[in-house]
This record gives sequence, structure tokens and C-alpha cells, in this order.
Amino acid sequence: MMKLGIIGAMSVEVETIKRQMQDVSVSAYAGMEFYCGILEGLNAVVVQCGVGKVNAALCVQILCDRFCVTHIVNTGVAGSLLAELDIGDFVISKDAVYHDFDCHVLNDNYVVGQVPGLSVRAFPADDFLIAVANVAAEKVHPGHFRVGTVASGDQFICDKRIKDKIVADTGAICTEMEGAAIAHAAWRNGVPFVVIRAISDKADDSAEMDYPTFEAIAAKRCAAVTQTLAQLMVSK
Ligand code: ADE
Repeated sequence: MMKLGIIGAMSVEVETIKRQMQDVSVSAYAGMEFYCGILEGLNAVVVQCGVGKVNAALCVQILCDRFCVTHIVNTGVAGSLLAELDIGDFVISKDAVYHDFDCHVLNDNYVVGQVPGLSVRAFPADDFLIAVANVAAEKVHPGHFRVGTVASGDQFICDKRIKDKIVADTGAICTEMEGAAIAHAAWRNGVPFVVIRAISDKADDSAEMDYPTFEAIAAKRCAAVTQTLAQLMVSK
């Protein structure tokens, strides 16, 4: 039986989803509240993990160990790395990579993102979840989404030079602060995942202005896609 773990870093990214759940029981681990119940007829656990990679990875491990989730979705906002991706548009992860993991001085094979000892540099998202996320995004905002690489790091990006370096290093189409850590932890546990993000800013010098303005709108729009994904998963 499917059980979907839904992770958002911030309250605004998960609060509307939590409100739509039925038969909810709440439990706390590592300072995170896990809302376990039914969403759109699907068994689901919704949780706010907090910002950054460590919070995100911890959360995935708890979802796997304590809640035995079969699939994981990360919902939230991101900075755009692609001119065509505007505020309010969506990104669905093909894969996710760290932009702040860099051991290249040790070995030329360690390009940015490569974690020494791991067989992959970018953690591949699940084909089924990507396909369902595509249908969900098309329903919520037709034509306004892309499938591509998500780049994550413990840094809010609001500088054109840093943005350009992330693009050059990773080829990613959006940047945020949890996706690759969720992907990494899910990959290690053999649990399929997808990252779905709505663009809140352009990750350049305009980001400081745009982010507070568009954060809530983008986060709620992304939550709507995630909820639609749950609805579609029930019928599969
Ligand atoms: N989340 C939303 N916008 C972001 C940005 N510019 N950098 C990092 N995380 C983000």
C-alpha cells in the first residue's frame, strides 16, 4: 500500500496541505511534527522539516524508519536559474544535486556536487512520481512547468555571480536549500522521491525584494500541485 511522505521546509509550504488531511494523528521527533493521516484518499505523512540540508535529511530518515513511507515528495519554493522560468512557474526534479559540495582539490573526478564514495553525483528522481507531478502541474498551471535538475545548498542565493556559478557547475534550472538532501537520503533508503518547487524569485540581485513578496503565493501554488499529485496517485 502506498504511503506518501510530504516534506516542506517552512510552515507556509505545508500548512494548506495539513488543513486538507483527515483522521490526523500528530507525533514529534527531532523537533519536527509529523501529521499522519489521509490526504485525498491516500495515506500520507506531512511534515515541516525546517530550512537546510541537515533538517531535510533527518526528516527523510524519520519518515522511512518510523512511518515506513513508500514515496517522498518535497514541496516548496525555489529561485529560478533559467530565464524562461518565471515567478509562479513550477519545476519538477529530473534529479537533484548539491551546489555547495566541492572536493575537487582532492581529485579531478570530484566535480561540484560529487560526494566522495557515492556512485551518483545527482540523485535521480522517480519516473512514476515525475510523470504524476507533470499531470498535476499541468492541471494547476497549464504549460508553466519544466522538468530539470534542482541544485541545493545551505545558502539563499541572491547574487548574479553565485547564480551563474551554480548554473555552470550543475546545469540546474532552480535552486533551493533541501531538495538534494531529501534526494540523497531517499536514495540511500531506496525510497522513490520527486522535488516539486514553485519559483518565488530569480536567485539574483532582485531576489531579496521578490522573495518576501512571492514566497507565500508560490508556496501555496506548489502545495496545490502536491495535493493534486496525491489525488492522482490514489487512482493509479
Ligand atoms: N528558495 C527560494 N528562493 C531561493 C533562493 N534564491 N536561494 C535559495 N533558496 C531559495
